Amino acid sequence: MENRNIILIGFMGAGKTVVGQKVAQELGLKFVDADEEIEKTAGVAISEIFSKKGEACFRDLETKVLESLRDSTNLVLATGGGMVLRPENVKMLKQLGSLVLLWAEPSVIFERIINETHRPLLKVSDPKVEIAKIINYRQPIYQQAADFVVDTSGLGVDEVAEKVVNYISRRSAS
Ligand code: S3P
Repeated sequence: MENRNIILIGFMGAGKTVVGQKVAQELGLKFVDADEEIEKTAGVAISEIFSKKGEACFRDLETKVLESLRDSTNLVLATGGGMVLRPENVKMLKQLGSLVLLWAEPSVIFERIINETHRPLLKVSDPKVEIAKIINYRQPIYQQAADFVVDTSGLGVDEVAEKVVNYISRRSAS
């Protein structure tokens, strides 16, 4: 059977969760949010995992969630922004489905997340500088992992979802 899984990767605030929900709805697929799965398993919020156990523990939980999805089909998976940092995760993601990178300029990301407080990595005195720094480091990792890239800067959720659905339709037709 064809593997129809769609995996959304990209930086915090790129829209992976909302776009993923929309794409899943349009294509009749199941939606899974990796961060939500981690919180369900751990029984605490991600910010608490970071503060009490540290980032390395969180990254281990990310890998465990991926392992648990190994045999899944007909899925749209929204990953956390750092999921692709471990090469072993990228390998598993590639086996699971097509990787779609939702990209956005650092200034766009900053505007989107400015009023949100749940991301431990951005609880710093100057989030704007931090975003630029992390994106700069991660950009080649995201680009290299991606099968398809959508630049979401200036686009709404529906427009981004449409681009993802079009890509998946083309992929399925070829
Ligand atoms: C992270 C992104 C977050 C979450 C955690 C770490 C990252 O997910 O997994 O706070 O390293 O970029 P979102 O990308 O859904 O915000």
